Amino acid sequence: MKSEILAIACVALSLRSIVSLYSYSGFDSSPMYGDYEAQRHWQEVTINLEPGQWYTNSSNNDLLYWGLDYPPLTAHHSYLLQIICN
Ligand SMILES: *[C@@H]1O[C@H](CO)[C@@H](O)[C@H](O)[C@H]1NC(C)=O
Repeated sequence: MKSEILAIACVALSLRSIVSLYSYSGFDSSPMYGDYEAQRHWQEVTINLEPGQWYTNSSNNDLLYWGLDYPPLTAHHSYLLQIICN
């Protein structure tokens, strides 16, 4: 049992170390930056627009700026977080 926990910890630590060596989407590209800004923006979009507009490009929803590109469950999750966190 102890050796299994040690093996899992080693794999987890190795994965984190390998991932940390590489960049992420939005890195160094102001003002998009990274995933935190994407998540913040999805909350902004879902709380301010009707669900029918979440995936449609418009002057209120520029899909090139962290447009929602995950299935609707993700969008509803962002919406829920925005309701809970406000
Ligand atoms: C989406 O909307 C933005 C803002 O109106 C515009 O700048 C952009 O060109 C549009 N993109 C597409 C693919 O239509």
